[in-house]
Amino acid sequence: MSDILKKAKENRSKKENKVEITKKLKAPLEVYNRLDEIAAGGYEKLAKEDSAYFLKCFGLFDKGTDFMLRVRIPSGRLTATQARRIGEVAKKYCNGYIDLSTRMQVVLRFIEIGNISKVIKEIEEVGLSTFQTGVDNNRNIVSDPLDGLAFDNVIETSPIVDEIESRIIKNPEWISTMPRKFNTGILGSLSNSCNIYGHDCSFVLAQKDGVFGFNLYLGARVGVVAKDANLFVQAKDVPHLYEAILRVFREYGYRDNRNKNRLHFLLLDVGIEAFVDAVKKEAGREYQDAGVVMVQSKHLNYSSAKILLKDGTFAYKMIVPSGVFNGDDMVEVSNLAQKYGSGELRLSYDQNIYIVGIKDDSFEEFDKEELISTYSKYQNIYYKDTIACAGTHTCSYGVIPNKPDALDLSAFLASEVALDEGQIRLNWSACPKGCGIHGVGDIGFEGCKAKDDEGNRVDGVHLFIGGKITREPKEAYTLHKTLPITEAKHHVKYLIKAYAKFKNKNESFEEFESRFLSTLYSYQAIAFYTKVNFVLEQKLGMSEFFELESEPKSYKNEQFEIFHFGLRLFRLLTNEKRYEAVEGIEPVLKSPRKIKRDEVSRINPKVHPKLSEAIYLMTHEDRSSRAQVFSELMTLLKEI
Ligand code: HEM
Ligand code: SF4
Repeated sequence: MSDILKKAKENRSKKENKVEITKKLKAPLEVYNRLDEIAAGGYEKLAKEDSAYFLKCFGLFDKGTDFMLRVRIPSGRLTATQARRIGEVAKKYCNGYIDLSTRMQVVLRFIEIGNISKVIKEIEEVGLSTFQTGVDNNRNIVSDPLDGLAFDNVIETSPIVDEIESRIIKNPEWISTMPRKFNTGILGSLSNSCNIYGHDCSFVLAQKDGVFGFNLYLGARVGVVAKDANLFVQAKDVPHLYEAILRVFREYGYRDNRNKNRLHFLLLDVGIEAFVDAVKKEAGREYQDAGVVMVQSKHLNYSSAKILLKDGTFAYKMIVPSGVFNGDDMVEVSNLAQKYGSGELRLSYDQNIYIVGIKDDSFEEFDKEELISTYSKYQNIYYKDTIACAGTHTCSYGVIPNKPDALDLSAFLASEVALDEGQIRLNWSACPKGCGIHGVGDIGFEGCKAKDDEGNRVDGVHLFIGGKITREPKEAYTLHKTLPITEAKHHVKYLIKAYAKFKNKNESFEEFESRFLSTLYSYQAIAFYTKVNFVLEQKLGMSEFFELESEPKSYKNEQFEIFHFGLRLFRLLTNEKRYEAVEGIEPVLKSPRKIKRDEVSRINPKVHPKLSEAIYLMTHEDRSSRAQVFSELMTLLKEI
């Protein structure tokens, strides 16, 4: 079987990429061992390849005038002592700034070159590491942030993660030897709290013949969820299997075109079966076929920040909007973890922090703590599940500021549509690289440049909807390409209005999207719904709101949707009927009134002629003259 892998590798071995050539220049640890020297010598002592590649193996990213540092936090578990140290380091060397990232780790910034070795030493003193957090390495392993604690946790994965970390992370055999970055997740809980299908390698809680273990999924990347590898593994066997997976990818993964060398591309060429066969051979063990995945179809959504844990204590989920945190608050949160909790914190993939092990009788006092009450204003549906990547502020790829945009939108939605239960995952990436995992958000934003009404280049987004992270993961679809952010926020508002109106009690947006939006309407119809409301409200200053219906007659047939939307718009804007009667789904029209293109504008002068024309085309009595596709109408609406 590995013949297939060998052949695939051969086909892609014609030209090594530049990074591979750089990698051969030296052993990464040599550079790590020279950190004091580099710090003392400054930029003059910094070799080009160290800045471009080798320092990144240890989490250090040269930003030109200062450094950014990624700190590895396995499973997002942090002791109060470690958290305090991160806070102190941030205050001392990083202008106080801390980012919480979707790999459940932290990012420190603004570190002067003279301080790089000191910072790393101070971080390492408390048992943390920055190894393998950048470039072609095995990145921080994520799992359920309430691993071992939550009621829905079946297998505590932290011992597995620790075992893997001890074998891999500081081992020269593995530092910088992969063809590309390698992301891993291990989920031992029923609820998908770490985007488990979004990694190169995912172990997903499953059951086989009454035994709990993991099904293996492989090969996610931006726009692609991981695929079922049809392999079941018991907890104790995960580290051995994992090493075999790494070895096969290290051996056969492509080292030419870096745009196409994540594991996904190897799997595309050889098929997942051949890859898994090679892994089994490498592991020298037999594995059972996949068991039944236990991840539930409903996303667990705690209705309050206070979460009862298995041992009778509570966790408190502190919401840190867009993951923008700071040293003072990190020190304080570690104090609170020690004073009220078990002395442990958990970072989550949605860029928030759990304080765990709080006793019920101390909760009242805990709630009154200044830090908790300061952040309590973010205990709101629009902040709780928002994710945002770095953006232009610190990332050279960024097209929009992003974190501030995410915050603005959350504040805007909170003021526009009051909602106190449910769940909406708003995921923001400032460019197509997708570090803010916008592709699996309920509503996803990918930064771009757009044109405003005057033709000026402004910050914009491609708007996505319908990402799924539950049992059946799914990438979101594009709702609108290239909208100015000032417009996009209204489109989101209309989506949320539909959610607020039609949702079942405690239904998440993810469930609502499946049950309602994408079951009853075509994507194009939903896009038209948000666009036409934008035109009515924001362009024409009208108070009319065009609602979706819970039982549309048109049932996802675009032509019928257009017709029925048209009839309802006509009625909404004129208070008159377009036809005396319309019967059936394939409409039989009774007494059509002869109308002209500008009919709606004539009856209601507030309606723009283009909108009138759109409605004319939507409701035309002659089917062949009627608009067939929404895109035709969208073009008209865009001219308003
Ligand atoms: C070629 C593709 C990619 C490039 C060039 C890229 C580049 C970057 C850069 C430059 C940063 C640092 C920005 C800053 O904090 O100032 C960053 C951070 C980050 N990226 Fe990406 N990225 C890519 C793909 C991805 C993908 C596919 C994911 C996962 C969904 C991802 C996840 C992250 C995360 C979690 C961070 C925060 C730091 C961390 O915890 O590791 N990136 N990325
Ligand atoms: S998505 Fe783009 S802007 Fe955001 S961190 Fe990644 S590379 Fe930077």
